[in-house]
Amino acid sequence: MEKEKKIRVLFVCLGNICRSPLAEAVFRQLVKERGLEAYIEVDSAGTGAWHVGEPPDRRMRVTAERHGVSMEGMVARQISPSDLETADYILVMDKDNLHDVLYHDREGKWGYKVRLFREFDPHPGSYQVPDPYYGGPEGFEEVYRIVRRTAEAFLEHLIEKHQLPARVKS
Ligand code: 4NP
Repeated sequence: MEKEKKIRVLFVCLGNICRSPLAEAVFRQLVKERGLEAYIEVDSAGTGAWHVGEPPDRRMRVTAERHGVSMEGMVARQISPSDLETADYILVMDKDNLHDVLYHDREGKWGYKVRLFREFDPHPGSYQVPDPYYGGPEGFEEVYRIVRRTAEAFLEHLIEKHQLPARVKS
């Protein structure tokens, strides 16, 4: 595929401070490990505006760091209608997010891009990434495990579907 036209992946949750920024950070790291940055662009956003401008939740950052994933410098933002136009894959964490993202698709043009992230999970369970915000530390660890294996499977899907090199040597 052409290098100029990057595949744009947007992860979405409610606040953009726990699940979707973790998915962005983990997936970006996987893309970098494969040397595929020239092919894939990664971003995240929240459906709600409460935490816009804030860094990721400290509990999520600590969990990510424990697993060698940095969330340094990330800032929460809210999804906008233009995201539906520009992204190629809009991967949402739960069914509320699915509903809320589709609300922005007023003309019904972009719905085909919006999918539950856990459709790519080899063990999809409920197909939703549980919201860890009001729970204890084990919830953040569970989110990490789900996000990690699903991000790995999604990258394999992209490589196959778009015929990307499995690994680019630097
Ligand atoms: P996230 O988690 O959607 O994974 O970022 C949440 C963050 C904040 C809130 C809920 C969930 N909140 O109610 O403020």
